[in-house]
Amino acid sequence: MDIREVAVIGLGTMGAGIAEVFARAGIGVVAIEADPQAITHGLGLLDASLSKAVSRGKLSAREQAQTRARIRPAAGFSAAAAVDLAIEVVPERMEIKRQIFAELDRVTSPAAILATNTSSLSVTAIAAATKHPGRVVGMHFFNPAPVMRLVEVVSTVITDDGVADVVAELARRLGKTPVQVSDRAGFVANALLLPYLNESIELLEIGYASREDIDTAATAGIGLPMGPLALLDLIGLDTALSIMEVLHAEFGLTRYAPAPLLRRLVDAGRTGRKAGRGVYDYVTSASDSAGNGVSSSPPDTVTLIGSGDDAETDLATALASAGVNVTRNAAHPTELVLIAATAGRPVLPAALAAGRPEQSVGLHLPLGLTRGRLAELIHTSLSSDQAIEAAAALADKLGLQVVRAPDRPGFLVGALLYPHLADAVRMVQDGYATAADVDTAMMLGCGYPQGPFELLDAAGPSIVLAGLRAMQDAYGFPSLAPPVLLAEHAAAGIQWASKRGGPGVRSGGGG
Ligand code: 3HC
Repeated sequence: MDIREVAVIGLGTMGAGIAEVFARAGIGVVAIEADPQAITHGLGLLDASLSKAVSRGKLSAREQAQTRARIRPAAGFSAAAAVDLAIEVVPERMEIKRQIFAELDRVTSPAAILATNTSSLSVTAIAAATKHPGRVVGMHFFNPAPVMRLVEVVSTVITDDGVADVVAELARRLGKTPVQVSDRAGFVANALLLPYLNESIELLEIGYASREDIDTAATAGIGLPMGPLALLDLIGLDTALSIMEVLHAEFGLTRYAPAPLLRRLVDAGRTGRKAGRGVYDYVTSASDSAGNGVSSSPPDTVTLIGSGDDAETDLATALASAGVNVTRNAAHPTELVLIAATAGRPVLPAALAAGRPEQSVGLHLPLGLTRGRLAELIHTSLSSDQAIEAAAALADKLGLQVVRAPDRPGFLVGALLYPHLADAVRMVQDGYATAADVDTAMMLGCGYPQGPFELLDAAGPSIVLAGLRAMQDAYGFPSLAPPVLLAEHAAAGIQWASKRGGPGVRSGGGG
């Protein structure tokens, strides 16, 4: 089926981005938006994006004009009468979507495909509002739509054979990579991404770490393009909240319960970048940032305590090369007792054994010194502020970026990452997606440099498993229980890479 003209219903940030993607691929777009102000705003977004592409040399002025000429704004559904595909991109309210689909079903030719860009609502329930539910699919883009390469193509149990394949082919024509899945809350990417974002705001709420440190742990510690709190602001906290509510309703786990702070920020109108304020403030100047500056000078000599593992060797080498004197004699502790922390082992017992717990601080290098430049500075309940500041100054001298975290399982990077990886394994264990699909979805939809299963291989399945078990012991939430598939892989020493066989895109996936 040749798709020559599409209708995009709703011209908010995502709708404008999707309209741009179609038009840039040479496809005519009817941009339907009932509110004249919203049309003006949406076209303004689109024009700004095209101008940016021109200024970056990605588009010529001629192509810009041609692209723009392919977009025809309209106020009513009748303008969609002759399109080959209509895609709905309106806020996540089931009743509005069902009304729109009933209208589209009425005005379009029965051969046209009807798609929803819903991020988590049931495509099946939306399809059921039409008389021809077999032609309804999900076509889920990622923000910013012109940049992110993933399109999730969602079939329902009543989608006609071949419809999802046409939409997947269309996605390829747009320069995107389709991943075909069945209709389940959050599909692949949001079902994995949103609980991790929710976790990050929960950590902020309980004062586990500062918002800057939470974001730095994800970017410098895991290599993600944005921190989870900054990403919440990009997606919109209201959108994130509604996705969490759908996930919670479908799966029921406590992990999916929206963080109270997420709800409060939405109640307060702090919905993210689009409102000028979310977790961060985009209106006031940079002074809004709490910062994590180093205020004291580093000590010349430290007592280093470790367990003779790589973590201790790495740290001793780095300290020596920075000209810091290292003593191992805990009986004569120096101003700072540095504990080479290891994932899965609390710092406090070593601090107590050293006899000066107030002067003791853990330093954990999540990716090892040779690979990453992030240090987690672990404070126990007894660490003094002076010791924490001295350790921060020392890490700064070693050229490390520092985040501060309490002496709890996973510290900060693991607290964000391990449950996220467990969710990915659970999704494969459930038979919903393959490891290859999950990696493709997270890399192309959310800009991950490596997918969750590659991250799992890199971190070590047994380390992640031990981290999750420690977290479950500490907090007792059933949703932190490691998936049995992870335990099996860890016991058998199986690397996920051996199961991927390339960045495969699952075909079929309907029903
Ligand atoms: N519109 C169009 N283009 C944009 C853009 C936008 N809003 N934002 C950035 N770009 C383009 C830039 O022009 C630039 O293009 P170029 O390489 O051709 O010159 C390119 O993207 C990179 O931009 P920048 O250099 O300004 O910034 P970064 O390198 O920091 O990248 C980012 C920005 C692409 C947003 C990157 O940080 C990223 O990948 N972040 C993760 C985003 C993500 O996870 N999205 C998915 C959210 S979940 C979702 O959308 C699902 C929904 O259902 C909730």
